[in-house]
Amino acid sequence: MAMELCLPFENTSTRQASKYGRPHNTVFAPLCDWIIGNISEISMNLRILEYLFYCLAPVTSALFNDGDRHVDVSVDYFELAGSSGVPAMHAAVLPPDGKVVFLDKVENYTELLLPNKRYAYSSLYDPISHQSSPLSVTTNPFCCGGAFLPDGRLVTIGGNAPLLWLDPTVDDGFDAIRYIGSNSSTYNWIEPGNKLGSKRWYASAQTLSNGDVFVAAGSLNGLNPGNYSNNNPTYEILGSDRVSKGKSIPMEILVETQPY
Ligand SMILES: *[C@@H]1O[C@H](CO)[C@@H](O)[C@H](O)[C@H]1NC(C)=O
Ligand SMILES: *[C@@H]1O[C@H](CO)[C@@H](O)[C@H](O)[C@H]1NC(C)=O
Ligand SMILES: *[C@@H]1O[C@H](CO)[C@@H](O)[C@H](O)[C@H]1NC(C)=O
Repeated sequence: MAMELCLPFENTSTRQASKYGRPHNTVFAPLCDWIIGNISEISMNLRILEYLFYCLAPVTSALFNDGDRHVDVSVDYFELAGSSGVPAMHAAVLPPDGKVVFLDKVENYTELLLPNKRYAYSSLYDPISHQSSPLSVTTNPFCCGGAFLPDGRLVTIGGNAPLLWLDPTVDDGFDAIRYIGSNSSTYNWIEPGNKLGSKRWYASAQTLSNGDVFVAAGSLNGLNPGNYSNNNPTYEILGSDRVSKGKSIPMEILVETQPY
């Protein structure tokens, strides 16, 4: 359940990246909606609690599903345990070891450098050692969508344009597809080069019961969503090979509910 915590048309710099937002592709969305619906007077404190709820939902869900191991669910405080090393625009707990992947966008600063001396825009956090290590991405993942595949890998889809003056080693992410999973306990983003059928910034993704991934909506270019020509009110399917079937099909509800 990759989360989207960024908002369009906001400069999500390192400090600003922790935007409050509804994770529109998680199973927690209905619960989140209930909470939002019941917070009529949204004070800053409640917003922070709401944000923490989103932030920790994947972590707590991993704890609750922790098999036979004893799990202390009576914790009622938060403790700063470490740093993600990169702005945590997206976060997901990866099976099987519960490491946490963070994913950002192309930035002019993060806390982690890659071996090529460029800033890392993704990291892997080990909740045991509290260390974060840099991960490389080759396409700009700014506000991509994501879903878990039946084999436990996370797939992220879409993103934004390259910012070549900041980092010439990261390409266009608008139609990108990235996979991450455990490879003998090492994790790396794999980007074989297969693309979405159309460009999607701010896309949503959901794995279906047959293992296909439903990918929907987004912006074609990141420009004004009030001009509907900039939007992508279509869906496409990643098939059993986790590759797009290549066809973007108009979807009435997305047309009717624009901007997106
Ligand atoms: C990085 O971005 C910040 C925020 O936009 C800006 O204040 C700063 O000057 C930039 N630094 C460089 C080296 O471009
Ligand atoms: C493991 O590594 C191989 C070789 O680099 C790659 O083809 C495969 O996709 C990787 N698997 C995962 C789950 O990352
Ligand atoms: C709306 O967006 C399209 C596609 O980006 C562009 O060609 C067109 O000029 C825009 N129209 C207005 C009124 O901004």
